[in-house]
Amino acid sequence: MKAVVYKEPFSVAVENVPDPQILHPNDAIVRITSSCICGSDLHMYEGRTAAEPGIVFGHENMGVIEEVGPAVKDRKVGDRVVMPFNVACGFCKNCLGGYTGFCTTVNPGFAGGAYGYVAMGPWVGGQAEYLQVPFADFNCLSLPAGTEHEADFSLLADIFPTGYHGAELAGVRPGESVAVFGAGPVGLMAAYSSLIRGAAEVYVVDHVGERLAKAEEIGGIPINYDEGDPVQQIKDRRGTGVDKGIDAVGYQATKAGSSAVGGEQDEVPNIVLNQLIDLVNPTGALGIPGLYVPSDPGGVDENASRGALSINFGRLFEKGLSLGTGQCNVKQYNSYLRDMIISGRAAPSFVVSHEIPLDDAPEAYTKFDRREDGYTKVILHP
Ligand SMILES: NC(=O)c1ccc[n+]([C@@H]2O[C@H](COP(=O)([O-])OP(=O)(O)OC[C@H]3O[C@@H](n4cnc5c(N)ncnc54)[C@H](O)[C@@H]3O)[C@@H](O)[C@H]2O)c1
Ligand SMILES: [Zn+2]
Ligand SMILES: [Zn+2]
Repeated sequence: MKAVVYKEPFSVAVENVPDPQILHPNDAIVRITSSCICGSDLHMYEGRTAAEPGIVFGHENMGVIEEVGPAVKDRKVGDRVVMPFNVACGFCKNCLGGYTGFCTTVNPGFAGGAYGYVAMGPWVGGQAEYLQVPFADFNCLSLPAGTEHEADFSLLADIFPTGYHGAELAGVRPGESVAVFGAGPVGLMAAYSSLIRGAAEVYVVDHVGERLAKAEEIGGIPINYDEGDPVQQIKDRRGTGVDKGIDAVGYQATKAGSSAVGGEQDEVPNIVLNQLIDLVNPTGALGIPGLYVPSDPGGVDENASRGALSINFGRLFEKGLSLGTGQCNVKQYNSYLRDMIISGRAAPSFVVSHEIPLDDAPEAYTKFDRREDGYTKVILHP
């Protein structure tokens, strides 16, 4: 089958790889209809992880079940399904607690597995024609048959639940003020989810024009950090800080005035964390879905290379702030968010900028990485 294969930093190719097989009675093979490119893929694409050439990318996968193993009971050939980016077993201690992002079965020696991601287990990515899905009854979320809401549903694999998770980690409640840093797909979904949860005011900080425009489209208040310290801009408007903060940027945060292309020279890995500690009012909370890594080959200094960042913990303590972080446990939210899409209460696909054939993936990676031509969220259709 054809698949998107990582070649070297800033290079992927569409190549032939072996077809996936049913290797265990619980497996299903899904024929992919939609697989999205994620900001998380860019960390690997840019060579900022330990990902080795040859890995097939793609953790945001949706399609139709082509084949099931003999132990798959509930899911049937022909079912339309979307898979959480987390591969999970459903029966380990963490899965039973709802923490499917920290499954201890699927990636031995580590808590957490994913398709097509470095250090997340042997699971081949789904930016390809077919995907092997283990524990298929647990990992396949059923969708209404047909083709309706394809783009909306494809976002259930990761960014809609992940953005919602950011709002959940921050404990966003009706009437609150929220600042979301990052207007990438995850940040936009965090802002959208905060509004769904009834937030009164949602500020969205970024410096990419098209992304800030999308934030405004859904009712957010755009803040461009190239136009001045975003904390001060928000405090000036409100006369105070905000109730809740969400970091949807992560360790590759850049300073004001940096080019959209980014690069190590522009990065300040702790900037957003410290800005949120400064901006969120005492007793508030920070949700941190943005990715931080324990090892970064391109870290700006020795500490950053081992994920050790300097954050204002004293100020955090003084303000009595709480914080939550980590991979999203997609399974906790995906069926509820699916039902909001079906009932017309949510339409997250406003974030999708490009839907293209799998063969065009190399160009899409380049443009998405440079935030060029409005590339905000790309769906590949094999
Ligand atoms: N926790 C999870 O389960 C999970 C899941 C998916 C993605 N992620 C992570 O979430 C983060 C966002 O993902 P994405 O797909 O939206 O990525 P993205 O790279 O498309 O978006 C990041 C945005 O942050 C902006 N930005 C950079 N520096 C900033 C700063 N100092 N202040 C404000 N904005 C700044 C960029 O301009 C960009 O628009 C990534 O780190 C990704 O790895 C985490
Ligand atoms: Zn993703
Ligand atoms: Zn598990």
